This record gives sequence, structure tokens and C-alpha cells, in this order.
Amino acid sequence: MMEAGVMEAGKAALYREVADQLEALLAGESDLVANTANMAALIYHGLPGLNWAGFYFTKGSEIVLGPFQGKPACVRIRWGEGVCGTAAARGASVVVPDVHEFPGHIACDEASRSELVVPLVAAGGVVGVLDLDSPHRARFDEEDRAGCERLVAILLRHHPDWP
Ligand code: SME
Repeated sequence: MMEAGVMEAGKAALYREVADQLEALLAGESDLVANTANMAALIYHGLPGLNWAGFYFTKGSEIVLGPFQGKPACVRIRWGEGVCGTAAARGASVVVPDVHEFPGHIACDEASRSELVVPLVAAGGVVGVLDLDSPHRARFDEEDRAGCERLVAILLRHHPDWP
């Protein structure tokens, strides 16, 4: 039990550090592509055990691939489809411990085993999602969900007029 406690303290500290780095990266810059590209790179290189990190942005009845790190991915996902489309339609984060057990999961990289998707909920509705993939089963827990939701909140605070 103690080991788990130590690991959780480490994760909380890591998210605080990444949040500070994100604030610094976004400070004074208003370009959405630049900021989401840097945020994808920060997450991909800053959090351990990922094989994909990036964005899909709402366009009509679809979400469309935005800045990311990892292998090339499927470009258009219909609202409600896959893990990303489900999180967008629900307007709530989705944590999938094993993507093989999620009906309708869209496999962009067959190495992916678990996934976390956080919707970007702005004043006008869901403007996109942040998607994290891992080759490890059950890589993401509630602390990752809360940590990534805080990162998304920082991004949205820097872009109050989105979309
Ligand atoms: N697995 C996602 C598709 C996007 S990729 O993982 C980058 C899904 O099921 O929506």
C-alpha cells in the first residue's frame, strides 16, 4: 500500500510540474495551432508510457485531427464514434483501461492498449478533445483524468474566445 501511495504522490507532483510548464509555454501566445502543438509535445514527452498524444477539433458533425505527437492517425471521427467521439458527444472524459474491450474503439496504432480522452468544453460547446494513448493496459487512472482535465482548463483559459 505504501508503494502505491508514493507513486500517487509522484504522479500529483508530475502533473503540477507539467501544468507549470504549460502555463509558461502558453504565456503571451494566442495562436491556437502553435499552442496545441506545443501542448501535445509537452504531454507526449512529459508523461511516461504514452504512444500518442494530441487533439481532434470539432468541425460540423465530426472531429478532425489536430496537432499531435505519435504515429499518423485517422483524420475524421464522427460524433459519438470511438473513444474520442464518445467523449465529445458526452462532454465528459472517458478512461478506457483496455481498448480491446471498448465497442467501436478506432485503432490508429495497433500498439495502443489503454486510452484517456478529455473533451474541450468551451462556452459554445465541445470544441474538440485531447486524446492520450498508451501501449500499457490500464495506464490511466482517476489522477490522470483529473490532471489532464486541469491541463485542458489551462488551455481553454488561454483561449476564451474559442472557437
Ligand atoms: N482510438 C481513438 C481514435 C484516435 S487515435 O487513438 C489517435 C478512438 O477510438 O476514438
